[in-house]
Amino acid sequence: MLQRGAFILFEGIDRSGKTTQCNKLVECLQKSERKPEHWRFPDRSTELGKVINNFLSSKVELDDAAVHLVFAANRREKCKDMFNKLNSGISLVVDRYSYSGMAYTLAKDIPDMDQQWCMMPERGLPEPDLVLYMRVSPEVAASRGGYGEERYEKAEFQKKVAANFDMLKGKNWVEIDAGQPIQKIHDEVMKAVDDLYSSSRLSGPVGKLYTADGLKNSLADGQVVINVVQNNMSMKASPLPSDVPI
Ligand SMILES: Nc1ncnc2c1ncn2[C@@H]1O[C@H](COP(=O)(O)OP(=O)(O)O)[C@@H](O)[C@H]1O
Ligand SMILES: [Mg+2]
Repeated sequence: MLQRGAFILFEGIDRSGKTTQCNKLVECLQKSERKPEHWRFPDRSTELGKVINNFLSSKVELDDAAVHLVFAANRREKCKDMFNKLNSGISLVVDRYSYSGMAYTLAKDIPDMDQQWCMMPERGLPEPDLVLYMRVSPEVAASRGGYGEERYEKAEFQKKVAANFDMLKGKNWVEIDAGQPIQKIHDEVMKAVDDLYSSSRLSGPVGKLYTADGLKNSLADGQVVINVVQNNMSMKASPLPSDVPI
């Protein structure tokens, strides 16, 4: 049976090496029979993306809740296109996604904007088949080229972001020691990607983030998550594994 495309995501703090590894992976997949496309979020090419770009480069100030929603909307505007590509056999190698959106907003510690609030706009987006989490200390990241040019590139803030990624980590995540040399990291990335392509995962449909079925499939054992109760949209935190009420 013809496999659908794979959704491969790189996440991590600023300067953890996501873009470097995305480029290397796409180059590698292009040589194989896979049909990769390199995507990144935020997608600064759209109208919403332009707002985000101006915000990140500190040209405009925006309300924190509005910022979260604009980043999420920037993913939502690509949602149908992502499903279509994946279902037509194209693999997407994506640089940042919903987890970054949530990890950065949560790092701001804003009253009422808790994990449940942050997750809601992500619900139903395509779920990554593999999340390559680039773990590196904020100190090492800060010593790398270009650091400090954009809004969130401050060591204290990045530490909180890193802690939030740890909290959001699910079943499809593979953690990579991103303090290693670039080629060594690439080899580990390729191993995880080869494992994905040889697994049965790509014979099934593309998952959806934070829907009841999606939760059962993607959360790590014992992970504390939000159970989304359909119909009345109320939510509560509870430890998994447990029955997800629907
Ligand atoms: N493993 C690595 N070791 C040392 N420097 C790296 C490594 N990976 C990337 N870099 C360098 O660190 C900087 C940030 O990398 P980049 O891929 O742009 O990170 P991100 O996209 O996560 O912000 C770049 O100058 C890049 O060349
Ligand atoms: Mg980058």
